[in-house]
Amino acid sequence: MANLDKIKHSSADWRKIKRDVIAVGIYDDLRPTRQFQQVNQVLGRALSNALKAKMITGKKGEIVDLAGKKGLRAFVVSLGTRKQLSLEVFRQAGAAVSKMALGKKLGNITFLVPLEARSPEFSQALAEGLMLGSYQYLEHKTESEDDEKKHFMLKSATLVGGRKSSVEKGSVFARSVCLARDISNRPANVATPSHLAQQAAIIGKKGNLKVTVFDRREFTDMGMGALAGVAQGSDEPPKFIILEYQGGEKDRKPIILVGKGLTFDSGGISLKPPANMDQMKFDMCGSSIVLGVMNAVAVLKPKINVVGIIPATENLNGGKAFKPGDILKAYNGKTIEILNTDAEGRLILADALAYACKHYDPAFIVDFATLTGAVLITLGNIATAVLGNNKKLMKKVKASAENTGEKVWELPLWDEYCKQVESKIADVKNMGSGRMAGTIAGAAFLKEFVDENIPWVHFDIAGTAWGERDLPYFNKGQATGVVIRLVLDLLKV
Ligand code: BES
Ligand code: MN
Ligand code: ZN
Repeated sequence: MANLDKIKHSSADWRKIKRDVIAVGIYDDLRPTRQFQQVNQVLGRALSNALKAKMITGKKGEIVDLAGKKGLRAFVVSLGTRKQLSLEVFRQAGAAVSKMALGKKLGNITFLVPLEARSPEFSQALAEGLMLGSYQYLEHKTESEDDEKKHFMLKSATLVGGRKSSVEKGSVFARSVCLARDISNRPANVATPSHLAQQAAIIGKKGNLKVTVFDRREFTDMGMGALAGVAQGSDEPPKFIILEYQGGEKDRKPIILVGKGLTFDSGGISLKPPANMDQMKFDMCGSSIVLGVMNAVAVLKPKINVVGIIPATENLNGGKAFKPGDILKAYNGKTIEILNTDAEGRLILADALAYACKHYDPAFIVDFATLTGAVLITLGNIATAVLGNNKKLMKKVKASAENTGEKVWELPLWDEYCKQVESKIADVKNMGSGRMAGTIAGAAFLKEFVDENIPWVHFDIAGTAWGERDLPYFNKGQATGVVIRLVLDLLKV
């Protein structure tokens, strides 16, 4: 873990708190707030001088590092329009402060929560931003402790003002996102299906969850022919992982979270081209969303019932690998004609979704998967595609997206598209209509494995789970932990 572990809260006089830098906000009207004036005074007018010199423009997303007398430092961060405070601007402001502190090797931050942002959501957003912005993936850097080049980590951050319980909630949410990022960023020779099972066990211990893991022989005997088919080409032991949390009444219907745990996707016999194939270590990001959410649930213990299900395997090209033309039988008895072994995510999810429908009486199911390259063509790396079978649940998902700033966009799952996964010789095929509407075809296939009367939403995170999106609370090229905060909002954790 190379991120802030905790965001502290204080209602004391900020001048008495040990720090390397004080962060204070300014709105785009550039009118100094009382806090701004206080900091200005302590720093010997460094802030008002910067304002006069037009170094501070108040443009959203902007942050300025100012040095005052006696080596005192302040970051002035712009918070947009005073009359329309936005949680996302605050989240990004927190992250920008962490990023700048990291860059300048200032280990202890104090952030003054603006008086206008008293409502609890703002404290939560700031805490989330501070922690998410402090995230680095350093597990494989070998520099020793006393090495000059040693990668710098933040030591502490304190929010002064705001609400303590919300700062704590934001901390738990963000720490769960950072945990998911760590698991996702690990290379495939570390983050194996066994590793995912081990992480599930650790979370299970934390929150008294029941964790069950089926191995290759067990899930094959149980009838999960689709997962077994994909796993055939790899000697790395595959796992089918279940985490059960019961915080509500026993008879209350559970919410089911399913995550694609494809720890490396070579494409199988329908081999992927070599360029960027290393990125296919991220093909298990769906499973780390499930682990991240379950971690927050384990810590905060909400009064709900939640089950996490993770089918986990590699997709490789070993001597026993499944082949184009093969027909597999899924857990619900449906037969699947394989036309491309690279469309493997939907196969392992098919068994997981069917298992969820058969063994539980779900309130609803949500699944997360880096399922299609096509979603990158459709939405780029800005929004996650969502598709489902129930308007009410979809509306809730969109509301949670609004609440958390995690963008989703719905694609249609009309009958015309669903017909495209019909096969001539089996019940379904694992592709739609060639290269057309690939993301919808993926969801149309999954729909075949969800009982009609169970509300379900599929999240295609192939564009958003990692990558180049430029946000202060992301690191370019690395896992984002996207959608975890959205799901925690949806679950009302
Ligand atoms: N894991 C990939 C999807 C992917 C591609 C995620 C690029 C992120 C970046 C998935 O298993 C896959 O290969 N999908 C195929 C499906 C096709 C063969 C129908 C794809 O998108 O090309
Ligand atoms: Mn694939
Ligand atoms: Zn894949």
